[in-house]
Amino acid sequence: MGKKIKIVTISGARPQFIKASTISPILKRNGFNEIFVHTGQHYDYEMSEIFFKGLNLPKPKYNLGIGSHLHGKQTALMLQGIEEILIEEKPRLVIVYGDTNTTLSGALAAAKLHIPIAHIESGLRSFDRKMPEEINRVVTDHLSTLLFAPTKVALQNLKKEGIKKGVYLVGDVMYDLFIRTKNLFNRRKEKVLKAFGLKEKEFCFATVHRAENTGNQVRWKNIIEGLCSLSKRGIPIVWPAHPRTKDLLSNSKVKNLQIVAPIPYVETQILIGSSKMVITDSGGLQKEASFHRTPCLILRDRTEWTELINLGCAFLVDDSKEKLIEKALQNDFPKKVSIGKYYGNGRSSEKIVNILSEYLS
Ligand code: UD1
Repeated sequence: MGKKIKIVTISGARPQFIKASTISPILKRNGFNEIFVHTGQHYDYEMSEIFFKGLNLPKPKYNLGIGSHLHGKQTALMLQGIEEILIEEKPRLVIVYGDTNTTLSGALAAAKLHIPIAHIESGLRSFDRKMPEEINRVVTDHLSTLLFAPTKVALQNLKKEGIKKGVYLVGDVMYDLFIRTKNLFNRRKEKVLKAFGLKEKEFCFATVHRAENTGNQVRWKNIIEGLCSLSKRGIPIVWPAHPRTKDLLSNSKVKNLQIVAPIPYVETQILIGSSKMVITDSGGLQKEASFHRTPCLILRDRTEWTELINLGCAFLVDDSKEKLIEKALQNDFPKKVSIGKYYGNGRSSEKIVNILSEYLS
């Protein structure tokens, strides 16, 4: 057998570990030599290592240990570290996922070294350049060689920006993981609900971590008040808190909310699927809610997953307490919507690896 084709995967934040867990095993099965680079953007046990243990990810050959900094410094440190690795490893291709600072740094480092870039979860747009993720998406897409769009909307967004070459509509890799693991959800449901003291469909699952909410006192206060008043109306709220919110939460009045540490993938899916409603500012979670046919309230004024709004699966409540309460009390997921039609058939990761193989052969 000839020498294995070398691919470097750049990953560093929780959602990227989840996405990479769908592609890495298929790369291995297809005989690629995948070098896994962890930038260290996320470093807490519950934000990083737990996913490597639970999701069968390869052990990173490199961990840059960059950690948390202002955006410029974090991106610059990653860029420097990734560049050195790419010069040393000389891969045929670099894979980046999603829209974090890790994504941007990986794409920039590879582009400057003329290494082809595959961007998984390409073409999403919120059209709000104040969101750091939007800048990361736009720049990464314009630097990428192979662009894997999860939805038709994403494909159209790329076309509108003049990006037509190397673009593939493949479906959503997070939907793949959902399909692959969903058998576990029912088996472990009872145990998980018991551990959190929750009853099926009688609680809301909430998460808040985006900079536009955590960095704005007015929005943060409104959101906390909205969640607290829901809970006072007899709807328990369970909230796995991102470390970014630790200090904020300890200074807020949240006595009647059930704040817990970040939780692993399968437990998260069980709570999403068993909840009456998901309330979140996360991109990934709003989509995962739809996989479970759980309605979702989005704590933002816009979303990059626009089809969820158009289909009536999710609602933009922004930071309005009134809208949050009004919508949380009606909780119907549209009966006619078949989510698979929008996010693929659960085999997006195979499609992506086939396209990569063809490109690299
Ligand atoms: C990043 C992504 C965001 C994604 C999120 C998933 C960017 C610009 N944003 O946001 O798109 O939705 O990851 O979780 O890349 N912290 C810890 N421990 C950790 C990680 C973070 O304590 O393991 C705290 C630090 O106080 C840090 C803050 O969280 O300053 C923010 O972390 P950072 O990685 O900058 O952004 P996220 O909010 O995690």
